[in-house]
Amino acid sequence: MDRYAVIGNPIAHSKSPPIHGLFARQTGEQLQYEALLAPLDDFAGTLRDFLQEGRGVNVTVPFKEQAWALVDSRTPAAERAGAVNTIQRLDDGSLLGDNTDGKGLVRDIQHNAGLPLAGKRILLIGAGGAARGVIQPLLEAGPAQLCVVNRTVEKAEQLAMLFKDQGPISAAGFDWLEESVDLIINATSASLDGQLPPLPPSLIRPGHTWCYDMMYASEATVFNRWADEQGAARCIDGLGMLVEQAAEAFFLWRGVRPDTAPVLASLRQRG
Ligand code: ATR
Repeated sequence: MDRYAVIGNPIAHSKSPPIHGLFARQTGEQLQYEALLAPLDDFAGTLRDFLQEGRGVNVTVPFKEQAWALVDSRTPAAERAGAVNTIQRLDDGSLLGDNTDGKGLVRDIQHNAGLPLAGKRILLIGAGGAARGVIQPLLEAGPAQLCVVNRTVEKAEQLAMLFKDQGPISAAGFDWLEESVDLIINATSASLDGQLPPLPPSLIRPGHTWCYDMMYASEATVFNRWADEQGAARCIDGLGMLVEQAAEAFFLWRGVRPDTAPVLASLRQRG
């Protein structure tokens, strides 16, 4: 049976095995999917050992940049993202790297939540690996403006430079922000520590502005609680993005697109 895995550190609480298990059952694909803990200093060894036999892997924190460097070829999305979250072992034994995070985010916002991004003014908060990974697909969706906002402004400016030929992108620091926008996406790691980026409430037009935290937890994240208090029209967490990026990986490996709605519903039920 074809074997796949998600590799990370830590990995014990990964939802990828149940997600791919549900996809396989739903589509009738015969495959095994497991979670593998890689030592922090030997992602390459864990990857190499698994892919002696395994057909593909998902890569998660903190190895996505290393995965980018280790693959033999990359999709255009992965090339620009500077990070790889999906690897496929091709028939000639070489490794193809893709990044499905941004596609997953855009599909969750446009398809699942029903907010078309064309013509929208979007703030992307954060300028680390998570933010960089989603910029190209966001720009492809045709926003009026994508402004990258970061505590360390220089990092936001670097990203805006890197993607400036791809669409209307700009950079800012938190204290430059004032006017309300249509959508705020939190791509900082602040939610992980229960912290809130210093966002002025004026960014949210009550009943209009949507907020999306790429993090998810069993309870609402600090960012989404803040957004709700300011009267945001919708507050969405990153569970849908997780399921959608997994569906993109499954499609790359198996050529079959799973129906994500029942899988997302099942995960929400499990909590
Ligand atoms: P990831 O791979 O999750 O993106 P990262 O590359 O370490 O992780 O980037 C973390 C991001 O979260 C950065 O944009 C960081 O801002 P700085 O570049 O200024 O460090 C941002 N971040 C982390 N904690 C934050 C906080 N409390 N407030 C605002 N931004 C925060």
